[in-house]
Amino acid sequence: MATPQTGIFALGTMSHGWLELDARPDVDPRALVGLVAGLREPRTTIGGVNLVAGFRPELWAAVAPGDSPPGLRGFDAPVAGPDGYTLPATQHDVVVWIAGGAYDVVFDASRGVVSTAAPLATLAHEMVGWPYHRDLDLTGFVDGTENPTIVSATSEAVIAEGSGAGGSVLLLQQWEHDAMAWERLPIAEQGLVMGRSRINGAELDPLPATSHVARTNQDTFGKIFRRNIPWGRLTRHGTIFVGFSRDRERLDAMLGSMVGRDGERDALTRYARAIGGAYYFVPSSEALGAFAGGAGD
Ligand code: HEM
Repeated sequence: MATPQTGIFALGTMSHGWLELDARPDVDPRALVGLVAGLREPRTTIGGVNLVAGFRPELWAAVAPGDSPPGLRGFDAPVAGPDGYTLPATQHDVVVWIAGGAYDVVFDASRGVVSTAAPLATLAHEMVGWPYHRDLDLTGFVDGTENPTIVSATSEAVIAEGSGAGGSVLLLQQWEHDAMAWERLPIAEQGLVMGRSRINGAELDPLPATSHVARTNQDTFGKIFRRNIPWGRLTRHGTIFVGFSRDRERLDAMLGSMVGRDGERDALTRYARAIGGAYYFVPSSEALGAFAGGAGD
């Protein structure tokens, strides 16, 4: 059975680097995938990092047509709601996610990735993620409460069989928060926006239809596995949304719901705006490993 890249499920890492790269003109996609497959993370027992690699779905399909989810496409068009609120599309060719215990090792590994990739690809976008009071996002709410357990996460987030088995569809979005507007809201109203109590985290009953939890309800759309993390500094900051799923449809449906395609726009989008978004296919370890050293299927 094909195994997912293990870093997807490696919880508890305190420092994250997200690198999105674009292929240089006329680069052979096979050579690029081979280069990424050959990246080696430092794997000492304590100071090592996890490395997860993904590809623009069309790029991966071009090199591994027999190992790609049929019809999977990149984030090639913005997602717009009826009132014009829009989630932008900023697709790149390759993503490398490096996560470790502290930023020094992530920084070193990130520099290594960018310099190794330099002959074939350039760094197009970089995000550095850091935890806020352990597991809060920058709205002050615990993020990930309704994540599937680590046991069921593999079946929800990983393709079980067929073309692309062991792989996962990643939605990576950068959201910028309007901290001033958010912090002007009384705590109880913040709860109505999120759909959970800010005091004890409990889901509200009744759940406001416009709340974030209602707009992304996994009982409606299907389960995903989130690894969100805060980014930024005082002047600009927010959430790196990191969602893994066994198909793109449930992620697409959640985005459509958030922008109000069925009438109600997610109240959270009044306090946060997406400034980038891309879909990547994160192949199984075996599928990726087949390209290391210039091999491939
Ligand atoms: C600024 C961006 C975002 C922030 C700060 C944020 C924060 C949160 C928080 C605090 C919760 C409640 C606790 C939990 O279950 O994790 C939540 C739930 C959730 N969010 Fe987000 N989120 C953001 C964007 C998104 C996006 C873009 C998606 C989907 C594409 C999404 C999908 C979900 C799902 C599936 C749930 C659980 C819903 C359920 O209870 O079934 N979120 N989010």
